[in-house]
Amino acid sequence: MKRTLGTCYYPEHWPEEIWEADARRMANAGLTWVRIGEFAWSRLEPAPDDLRFDWLDQAINILGNAGLKVVLGTPTATPPRWMITKHPDMLAVDVDGKPRKFGSRRHYCFSHEGYALECDRIVRLLAERYGSNPHVAAWQTDNEYGCHDTTLSYSPAARDAFRVWLKDRYRSIEALNNAWGNVFWSMEYASFEEIDLPNLTVTEPNPAHSLAFRRFTSDQVARFNERQVEIIKEHSNAPVSHNFMGRITDFDHFKVADDLDIATWDSYPMGFLEDRVGADEAHQRAYARQGDPDFQAFHHDLYRAVGKGRWWVMEQQPGPVNWAPYNPAPLPGMVRLWTWEAFAHGAEAVCYFRWRQAPFAQEQMHAGLLRPDNADAPALAEIALITDELQSAPDSFSPKASVALIFDYDADFAWTVQPHGKDLSYFQIVFDTYRALRKLGLSIDILPPSVRDFSGRKLVLLPGMMHVPEDLKRALAEAEATIVLGPRSAARGLDFDIPVPQPPDFPGLDLAVARVESLRPDMPLPLAGGGSVTRYREELEGAAEIILQLENEAPVAVRQENIVYVGALLDEAGLERLYRELTAAEGLETRTLPEGVRIRDTQTERFWFNYSVDAVQTEAGSLEAAGMIRQPLTG
Ligand code: GAL
Repeated sequence: MKRTLGTCYYPEHWPEEIWEADARRMANAGLTWVRIGEFAWSRLEPAPDDLRFDWLDQAINILGNAGLKVVLGTPTATPPRWMITKHPDMLAVDVDGKPRKFGSRRHYCFSHEGYALECDRIVRLLAERYGSNPHVAAWQTDNEYGCHDTTLSYSPAARDAFRVWLKDRYRSIEALNNAWGNVFWSMEYASFEEIDLPNLTVTEPNPAHSLAFRRFTSDQVARFNERQVEIIKEHSNAPVSHNFMGRITDFDHFKVADDLDIATWDSYPMGFLEDRVGADEAHQRAYARQGDPDFQAFHHDLYRAVGKGRWWVMEQQPGPVNWAPYNPAPLPGMVRLWTWEAFAHGAEAVCYFRWRQAPFAQEQMHAGLLRPDNADAPALAEIALITDELQSAPDSFSPKASVALIFDYDADFAWTVQPHGKDLSYFQIVFDTYRALRKLGLSIDILPPSVRDFSGRKLVLLPGMMHVPEDLKRALAEAEATIVLGPRSAARGLDFDIPVPQPPDFPGLDLAVARVESLRPDMPLPLAGGGSVTRYREELEGAAEIILQLENEAPVAVRQENIVYVGALLDEAGLERLYRELTAAEGLETRTLPEGVRIRDTQTERFWFNYSVDAVQTEAGSLEAAGMIRQPLTG
C-alpha cells in the first residue's frame, strides 16, 4: 500500500484569488489529499433553499487540477443560524436540562428528525452534484461525532425516540420492569410513555436505565451516520469516511464504522496529554513537547480495528493547538515521528490540520502548515523530509499481532454508569494494559467485541469487559491463546444485573468473585514480590492456581489451563511483572526499552520511536530525541 499525505483546507476562509497558489503549493509540498467543506453550510446555503455551490465547484476544480484528491465533508456538524430559527428544538440538551446553544459547533441533537431531514437534503444535494466528480476521491460524514461532549442529549426529541427504542427492545413494559429491577424503590412503569430520560433525578437513576439510554444514544449516532452514507453511496463510488476523536467512548465506533469504508481519526498528541491520557504531572511534564508515547499508538490500533483495516489520520497536529490547558510547541522532529508512527501502524494517509492558520475566530491560536502571513510554519520542512522518505519506503502491511486486546464501548458505558470508585474508568484500564504490553516491546492488535476467531494469537486480553456474551466465553475458552480476564470481566448480565452463579462464571475456570472493593488512591495493597494493587480489588474464591498474591497471601491473579483471571487493578510495576510472566510462558520475545522508546513491527520493518528528550542507544542504533529509525526485518 502506498502511503500518502494531505491537509485540511477551508477555501471559504480565503479570497478566491489565492486558491490556485495554495493548491500549487500543497502539491509541491508532496501532499496528495485535501479535505474541504465540513463546516461550510452557511456558505453553501446562506438562507433556506438559497443554494450556492458555484464557489465549491470552483474550489474542487482548482484543487483537482493541481493534482490533489479532494475529501469532501458533509457540513452537518455546523448547521447555520437560520436552521435554529427553523427548528428551535433541534439543539441538544445537557444533563442539567440546559440547551446547548448556537455560536460554536455541533449544536444539534442526534434524535431530532427535522434536523436529520435537513441533513439528508444537504447531503443529497452534495452527493448528486459531486458524486461523479473525478476530483472527489473520498467523502467524510459530519465531523468528529461526540466531540465537545455532544453525544448524549436530554432533549424531548431524544426522550420520544428513547421510548420507541425501548419498546422495540423489551416489547412489554413488564419485561422492562423485570430486566431493570424496577421493583426497587417502586420505580415500576405502567407503560413506555411514562419513561423519562435518566437525568434530573433526586439521586442516581437506575443503572440499567442509564445504560439503556447510552446504548440508545449510541444507536442514534450510528443511524445518523448511516443515513448520510446511504445517500452518498447512491451517487458515488468514492470511499466514505468519518473522522473520530481520541478518547471519545460514548458511542460504539465499531457500529458507526460498519457503514464506512475508511475509519479516520484526529491525532493531537500534545492536545491530549493533560486531560485525556490520564497520566500524572511528572509524566505530563516529561512529555510536554512530544505527547504521550502510547496514546497515539493505542488509537492507531483501535481505528485500524474500527476501519476493518482501512484507516487514516485525518487531522494531525502540526504545531501548538489552541484548546488544551497548555499548548506548547512540539520538539523539532515530532511531526515526522507522529506521521511515521501512524504509517507504522498501517495508516493509508496522514493529513495535517490545517493548511493555513486562521487569523480570526476560535482557532486563531492554532498552528497550520502556513502562518497567517503565508510564510512556511516549521512543520512544512518536516513534511518535505517525510515526502522524501516515502519515495523509498517499502509497501506496508500490518501483520497479525500475537497479542490482542478487546475494546468494548458497551463496557465503557457500563463503567461510566457504575464505576464503583472515583476515577475508575474502563478506557483507562484498557489503555494502561496496552501501555504495559507496549513497554515490553510488543506490537498489539485491538479487536472488536464481536470477534470470535482467535487463531494465530498467543495472548488475548479483555480487562474490564463487564458483559461477556456466552458465545464469546465459549470461543475464548476454546482458543489456543492465553486468555486474560478481569478485573470485572463478565461481572454483569446484559441489563446490568449481577449474575448467579457469581461472576465470572467462565467455562473451565473454577473461580468466583466473592466480593469487590474500591480503594482510595493513597491505600495501595502491596503484592508479594513487588508492585501493588491500586484502587480496585476483588476477593477470589475457587480452586484455580494462584499466580499473584498480596503480601497477606490473598489471591490477586489465578490461572487454570489457558485462562488467567486478574482480580484487581495493578500499578505499573505489578502490570509489568504479570505480563512479563504471561508473555514468557507463551514464548513471546519481550524487551526492556529505554524510557520513552517504543517499537512497532510491520511485515517488513521494525520502527523505533524516541518520545524522550534525550538521545538513547538502542539495538538498532543511536536514536536522537524525537527520532525514528526504520530497521528492516529479515526472514
Ligand atoms: C479537531 C476538529 C477540527 C479543529 C481541530 C483543532 O477536533 O475536527 O475542526 O477544531 O480539532 O485542533
